[in-house]
Amino acid sequence: MKIAVITPHKDASQRLVEALRAQAHQVVLVMGEPGQLASVAEQHRPELLLVDGLDFGPAELAGVEQLSARHPDMAVVLICAAQSAEFLVQAMRAGVREVLPAPANAEAVLAAIARIESRLKGRAAPQGAGKVLAFLPCKGGSGATFLATHLGLHLAEHASVLLIDLNLQFGDALSFVHRGKPASTLADLVSDMRRLDASFLSASAVQVGPNFQILAAPDEVSQAMEITPEHIDQILTLAVAHYDFVVLDLGRALDTLSIKALDRADRIFPVLVTSLPAIRHAKKLLGVFKSLGYPADKVELMVNRFEKRGDISVDEISRLLGVPTVRTVPNAFKEVNDAINEGVALAASRVSPVTKSLTDFAVSLLPPVEEVRGSLLGRLFRRA
Ligand SMILES: Nc1ncnc2c1ncn2[C@@H]1O[C@H](COP(=O)(O)OP(=O)(O)OP(=O)(O)O)[C@@H](O)[C@H]1O
Ligand SMILES: [Mg+2]
Repeated sequence: MKIAVITPHKDASQRLVEALRAQAHQVVLVMGEPGQLASVAEQHRPELLLVDGLDFGPAELAGVEQLSARHPDMAVVLICAAQSAEFLVQAMRAGVREVLPAPANAEAVLAAIARIESRLKGRAAPQGAGKVLAFLPCKGGSGATFLATHLGLHLAEHASVLLIDLNLQFGDALSFVHRGKPASTLADLVSDMRRLDASFLSASAVQVGPNFQILAAPDEVSQAMEITPEHIDQILTLAVAHYDFVVLDLGRALDTLSIKALDRADRIFPVLVTSLPAIRHAKKLLGVFKSLGYPADKVELMVNRFEKRGDISVDEISRLLGVPTVRTVPNAFKEVNDAINEGVALAASRVSPVTKSLTDFAVSLLPPVEEVRGSLLGRLFRRA
């Protein structure tokens, strides 16, 4: 891609330019001020104008707006310290494609470029091979964390799995399958995003099994507030390139951060129990997903703690929610509770209806054997 980098600090941008050139981009580096954007665009005709380390206010954004109107095929990306929600909205309105936090992080810039390139080609953003599976409770205490952690364990028998606890304020996913506190959490990773790469991501997570890692939720609520949707986006972009499955355990709250995670998910599993209030919440959630434009086959309802002899049948739930099928996991209070209270996983080897349904669930998510030959998953299968 033809890229013009405009910056007041040529030296500081040099490493970024080298990283871009290493990826075969054609780059010109221009010392300059916001007032020069138009002349740089005219002179170099870049496909991407990358503005690094310049202060932007309303007047400068108005300049970008005119520029975007004149060069509709040119993408403008800002790397700057100002990241308030208000600024981001104004920047997007002015036609800025992305705003990345300063100082420039080559990985984040390359990911942004990949998104822009793919949009130019009219395709969805190229993703790593890994699949993102999001779990969220329709109502508190439905069993989303239990299912996310245990599905992760079952998938990890065949593939590499990273679970990210995105229940930022009350996340406790790690404690479901592991005793002891995490040495670092999602908050530690986010506080040092410049270092973000596959080994830092892996080192920040807890190794729960040979193929299973959990990136724990922050210890403190104040740390949780530092985490932004942009952080989640960058972490997921990296994670899907290095893990076969990225399982997200979400809390109940729908906010910009959880919506970013749900946008990035390949599949969403809202978890409910069989009660009318839970079904009402599920219906509301399905409505939200519809208004977010998610295709119907992205979402699959999980009815947890299901009792065959209960008052509400599977058909009744499907009918009330207007979905063709729902997946069920049986109720096994003592078995599940004992395991969670001890902080140990429900033994995969133990034959029980819950384990059986989780094994079937995991198998249904693994790609058909023909697709995995030659892939990372294929190598893992052969190893297994
Ligand atoms: N299949 C099951 N059978 C019996 N009990 C279950 C089952 N699944 C989960 N539970 C119980 O439900 C409780 C809540 O589970 P969990 O914490 O996973 O719910 P959640 O939806 O993640 O809740 P939160 O809103 O707190 O995030 C757990 O204490 C667990 O013992
Ligand atoms: Mg939970």
